[in-house]
Amino acid sequence: MTTQTQTENTTVRTPLGARVGIPPRRVSLKYDTTTPAYWYANNALQTHFWSAFSALLPEGEQFFVRAVRHYRDQIQDPDLKAAIAGFIGQEALHTQGHQDFNTFLNDRNLPLAQIDKQLKVLLETVDKVHPRLCLAATISLEHFTALLGAQLLREEDHHGSMTEPMRGLWTWHALEETEHKAVAWDVYQQTGGGYVMRAGTMVLTTVILGAVMTYATGRLLAADGQLLNVRENAKGLNALFGRKGRLTRLVPKFLDFFRPDFHPNDHDDTALVAEWREKLFGKEGELNSALKTAKSLH
Ligand SMILES: [Fe+2]
Ligand SMILES: [Fe+2]
Repeated sequence: MTTQTQTENTTVRTPLGARVGIPPRRVSLKYDTTTPAYWYANNALQTHFWSAFSALLPEGEQFFVRAVRHYRDQIQDPDLKAAIAGFIGQEALHTQGHQDFNTFLNDRNLPLAQIDKQLKVLLETVDKVHPRLCLAATISLEHFTALLGAQLLREEDHHGSMTEPMRGLWTWHALEETEHKAVAWDVYQQTGGGYVMRAGTMVLTTVILGAVMTYATGRLLAADGQLLNVRENAKGLNALFGRKGRLTRLVPKFLDFFRPDFHPNDHDDTALVAEWREKLFGKEGELNSALKTAKSLH
């Protein structure tokens, strides 16, 4: 509830983002009994992998917002200030979008609420260490969401493997992750964040994210009675992490993060963003009917 209140307040206070290409959009989707259990490629492992990722997003994205907000007052550049407003608004609305989806899955006896609670404890512990560490972890995780988001938009057999309305949820989120991928990075740079902290935190973050995702996916598979479905799970694992697996193919771009002179905009997604803005929210936008106007936020 608190989150929702924060979300609404944040959104109302952040009209600036649109000026710099980071407009918060509230997309409201309806999940019902027609939503298939295995909504990703009719495969349990891949479905639960992306559902586990969704389970991490509400707490994860609030953590990003706290990390960036801490440094907000140190930023002088008016464009970056506007971008921060857009970033905060977008992430707050993603939290809400994924909360709706997670609640729906939780009602199907999948333990998303429990995973959310456990992650909250972990992230509140990180909060206590140092704000610089939180921001370094945020740019590390935003690197993941930027790579995953652009890949989802770019690869038709990826977003095409999702049934609606999940395809709508993930493509909307993917578009906005791509739009705001450099914001936390620029805040980190402009407030004196250094290379060693960035690279070291990325290594730590990757290990923790890998462990958390393995745990969360395993929990969902077990709750669904699919943990020992060897054939389907091998198929799903191969699709994600095999030699030509979806995530394996992202490794070179992931490693770019460790280049001392790297900037997220080095991965040029300008055309991709333009294409998907039009596809989802243009004249004939696929998500226009799910889009709530700013007025309805009050
Ligand atoms: Fe997000
Ligand atoms: Fe993000």
